[in-house]
Amino acid sequence: MSGISDSITESNKPLVKRVNRDLLKKFIASARADYIAARPKCFAAHEITGKSGNATGFLGGVPQHWMLDWSTPFPLQIKSAKGCKVTDIDDNELIDLCLGDTGAMFGHSPEIIASALKDAAENGLTTMLPSQYCAEVGQKLVEIFGLPYWQLALSASDANRFALRVARLATGRQKILVFDGCYHGAVDETTVYLDGRGKTSAKPSLWGSAFDPAINTYCVPFNDKEEIYATLMGEDVACVIMEPALTNCGIVPPKPGFLEFVVETAHKFGTYVLFDETHTLSSGYGGYCRINNLGPDLFVAGKAVAGGVPTAIWGISEDVKQRLDDARAVLPIGHSGIGTTLGGSLLQLSALYGSLNQLVTPETYDKMLATAQILEDELNKIISEFSLDWSVIRIGARMEIIFSKTIPQNAEEMRALFDHELEEALHLGLLNLGFLVTPFHNMLLAGPDLTKENILNYAQSVRQIIGQICD
Ligand SMILES: Cc1ncc(COP(=O)(O)O)c(C=O)c1O
Repeated sequence: MSGISDSITESNKPLVKRVNRDLLKKFIASARADYIAARPKCFAAHEITGKSGNATGFLGGVPQHWMLDWSTPFPLQIKSAKGCKVTDIDDNELIDLCLGDTGAMFGHSPEIIASALKDAAENGLTTMLPSQYCAEVGQKLVEIFGLPYWQLALSASDANRFALRVARLATGRQKILVFDGCYHGAVDETTVYLDGRGKTSAKPSLWGSAFDPAINTYCVPFNDKEEIYATLMGEDVACVIMEPALTNCGIVPPKPGFLEFVVETAHKFGTYVLFDETHTLSSGYGGYCRINNLGPDLFVAGKAVAGGVPTAIWGISEDVKQRLDDARAVLPIGHSGIGTTLGGSLLQLSALYGSLNQLVTPETYDKMLATAQILEDELNKIISEFSLDWSVIRIGARMEIIFSKTIPQNAEEMRALFDHELEEALHLGLLNLGFLVTPFHNMLLAGPDLTKENILNYAQSVRQIIGQICD
């Protein structure tokens, strides 16, 4: 026997835990019952709003149908959300690690946004004219994100759609390139995936597309340099639209040098690169591109950028601006297909002014990254305590547990690891113990208000659940 084996006695041998499917099913059934028992008012409210009764009102009983995509028997109905806490109408208080799937990344209802809203309420919400904060907000965007020219939209979906139009007009090309597993919002031409035969196809779940979204889109596997090179060398792609790491099919990080390769290859063949940092704004101050010196041609961020007020920013480089100006010069006057009535409103500017000055700051990120580190360390401790074949993938303040020791390199590898039953158990179990995590792949976001005590309690809850579903 080697010295190492000798030193392992019965008492210090690591617990080797494996998920037991029977225990898992029992756990989910009892977690659902506990959820229902603790929430009579949420249940009643959902009945009234129409989901299971015959009442009319919101379709499916919710104002936005994604709110039914949680594994809970019926949705939580929220009474209030502040900092890193949400309280439902049954007065159950939850520590929030979902943060509105990033919309509240800088905390719920930050003071500065509350006063910006008050300011806008008193001084005007929308006029379709520039306002007192424009010059300063514009300068701040340049300072924080690097690109010289900016526009506002109401959502990241809109911003992506507008930025892609600009890339098409500026290059005179129709096609775009996306990565399998991507999500860039309700942007038709990005709603594709690589079907099992390696073909770019429309996502089968789409509602009522006006055209086949795959017509002008090449979809390639993330981290696959050869495919990218082979696709871009055809010189018909206007723009690569990408997140620096995939975050919408689980987190798939880029291999070292991959992003630089994409930018370099795109430029070699006359293609622009649009980095959509709506989620990777979690990386640190200025986002992933700034931290890693990536120099995007076009840039989009939405969700949290104005502290939860519906706003997205999109920026373009000097080169894109020049080519856009040339292309526009020969267009007749008329609709551009870019912009919406409430975009750039007084309300948005007021919120962005507050957010860029007081939320999107190095100090806020220092706090978030420090707590995220503690959270990651706690999760890794649990994984090794129970000898689980799991890992944690982290992009700044955002992280996920994956059920594998090997980090996936693309969406197909990630999809093979999905375990919806296990995710549901963790999600429901944590809810019952006072923690809200994102319904999709248990994504966790460490907001600036999260404390070490919150994290240690969360870790104990994870231990408690694992103890019940493994043998
Ligand atoms: C990377 C990315 N881009 C864009 C969007 C779309 O954002 P919104 O729904 O606010 O339009 C999302 C939404 O999850 C996203 O993850």
